[in-house]
Amino acid sequence: MMRLTINGTGHQVPAEPRESLAHVLRDRLGLTATRLGCAQGSCGACNVLVDGSPVRACLLPASLAEGEDITTLEGLRDDAAMAALREAFQAEHALQCGYCTAGMLLAARDLILRGRAHDAAQVRAGLAGQLCRCTGYDGIVAAVQRAARTLSR
Ligand code: FES
Ligand code: FES
Repeated sequence: MMRLTINGTGHQVPAEPRESLAHVLRDRLGLTATRLGCAQGSCGACNVLVDGSPVRACLLPASLAEGEDITTLEGLRDDAAMAALREAFQAEHALQCGYCTAGMLLAARDLILRGRAHDAAQVRAGLAGQLCRCTGYDGIVAAVQRAARTLSR
């Protein structure tokens, strides 16, 4: 049994020690905003926040997340930066199938909060580890800059 704190709530989860955090979130707790793409640490679809920083949940054994503060996209419904990003992604047509979007939003939010989203080059460099098979990235880069501008007003 593991004890995990997710989106501010404690959970006792019957999981195997080596089960990934991504699997535990999706399959044992039903928190399916966290996506599994490559399951090898390459695509970023599975990003969650661990103590506020983006982490690849497919690579992290859930047992190592015990005692940490885990946040998934579901836990950021009332977050101002996420609200600005949601609006900007819609305005800039920054998603198509949406499979990459949860991970992309978490990575983009982190860039914005660290002040690393002022121009397109900065955003592209910051999101280099996030793969999208649909959009060609232009809309995503524009959306992140739009959200950053909104939040700096
Ligand atoms: S599913 Fe974790 S990085 Fe691709
Ligand atoms: S919108 Fe389809 S993978 Fe990014």
